[in-house]
Amino acid sequence: MIRKKGKSLCIFSAKGGVGKTITTLNLAGIFEQIEKKVLIIDMDLSSGGITCALNRPFTSTIYNFVDDYNNNRYKDFQNYVTKYDDWIDLLPSPKDPRQASKIDSKYIEIALDKAIYHYDIVLIDTNHILNEHNLVVLDNVDDILFVMTNDPLDLKNMKSLLSIFRDLEKDNYKILLNNSCNPYKKYFSLFDMKNILKSEIHYTLSSEFFLKNIDNYVMNGKIITLEPKMPNVFAKDYATLMSIAGDMSLESEEENEEK
Ligand SMILES: Nc1ncnc2c1ncn2[C@@H]1O[C@H](COP(=O)(O)OP(=O)(O)O)[C@@H](O)[C@H]1O
Ligand SMILES: [Mg+2]
Repeated sequence: MIRKKGKSLCIFSAKGGVGKTITTLNLAGIFEQIEKKVLIIDMDLSSGGITCALNRPFTSTIYNFVDDYNNNRYKDFQNYVTKYDDWIDLLPSPKDPRQASKIDSKYIEIALDKAIYHYDIVLIDTNHILNEHNLVVLDNVDDILFVMTNDPLDLKNMKSLLSIFRDLEKDNYKILLNNSCNPYKKYFSLFDMKNILKSEIHYTLSSEFFLKNIDNYVMNGKIITLEPKMPNVFAKDYATLMSIAGDMSLESEEENEEK
């Protein structure tokens, strides 16, 4: 089935362990609630966090897509995705990390292009490395969400990442300060951080959103934002995630109207 073109969002960061994977999952849950059909592409090619966290059996991965495409065996994009629920599908990272290095990045561009015609929203989880694979993703997505924490090393790396983007004249990004990963990190004020980065910080997830039992969710393949009590218990952070989702889908409607 060919649908109208969706939008793609890459979740990227300047450092590992800042909450990209959990945020990707939470956003997928939010998009499900506003009835958008979502594909998550696990581009953390050698350590696939999403694939593990969603806890679903799968046979095909992005490696199979690339391998089939390269060998003229590709027929239908849907053959490579795994269903999470009625709204969310997953394109898993390779089962064997050695396959990751065999993926030619030109096929990543093709996969993104196919995906966007099958889903309303394509979310791409990455690792934080500026390698060829991630550069192709960053170059080809509609929007980028940089996730950062209140951490000196993270801030320093984020500052250089932003200057690279300024040099490239790329401004299709927003910055999410994630205080929910480690609620004890609060050395810098918001004012300091904006000053260091010379940039707006567009969204903040609060330290109240730190979940002691997060591993239970991960082990059971659960998405936090889809848990029934979530919108009430974490109303503020839920609203933040909703506004990220809203900003994206609003943009897509505006752009479609322009066409
Ligand atoms: N809201 C949260 N509450 C508690 N722990 C969190 C939360 N978000 C992320 N974490 C934990 O922080 C760590 C890093 O998160 P992860 O999403 O894997 O980061 P990344 O994908 O950027 O490497 C993980 O152990 C994860 O369980
Ligand atoms: Mg991750």
